[in-house]
Amino acid sequence: MKFFIDTANLHEIKEAHALGVLSGVTTNPSLVAKEDITFEDRLREITEVVSGSVSAEVIATDWEGMISEGLELAKIAPNITIKVPMTPDGLKAVKVFKEKGIKTNVTLIFTANQALLAARAGASYVSPFLGRLDDIGHNGLDLISTISEIFTVHGIDSEIIAASIRHPLHITEAALRGAHIATVPYKVILQLFNHPLTDQGIEKFLEDWNNRNK
Ligand code: E4P
Repeated sequence: MKFFIDTANLHEIKEAHALGVLSGVTTNPSLVAKEDITFEDRLREITEVVSGSVSAEVIATDWEGMISEGLELAKIAPNITIKVPMTPDGLKAVKVFKEKGIKTNVTLIFTANQALLAARAGASYVSPFLGRLDDIGHNGLDLISTISEIFTVHGIDSEIIAASIRHPLHITEAALRGAHIATVPYKVILQLFNHPLTDQGIEKFLEDWNNRNK
């Protein structure tokens, strides 16, 4: 499973990129709204740092509007992926983008049928939202298993992005259950490093080194 970072914050993207683990970036309108810069300028900055897929979400809700927005966004850099919502209009737009050779990420997926439809429309990526399902008492991770099994049985090559990740266990489980990618907030990427035995080990090595017989 690969790591994307789920943010529009350039500092976080640069920090995660420097760790050497970053394969891409996802943004959404809520994340972009927190930043003090135009969407297009931020996408330009991100694509100068990251060569993997950078998802840019359209705001239009009609397919013609999604296409004209998406075509403009796609001009920013060759690694821009157009993110569209899981609606009939969204899938019409996916079909057109695919014909034009532009990658797409279908977002706000909450059922296996939605994922299957998105994949059949030609989505490069499908994004099931784990955390938001957990929030309403469903099991987001079970959805990853189901989508993964369906895609395997039917030889579907759309990649599954485990999205709406809230904690490290989501990541281990998403990997085990067949997600190709997890898109992870920077805070959670940092949590993945933590283990008290790692900290204690470093402390003890340094202590022994400092007390060595010279
Ligand atoms: C995915 O592409 C979305 O940007 C994201 O994972 C949403 O996560 P949230 O539920 O924490 O807003």
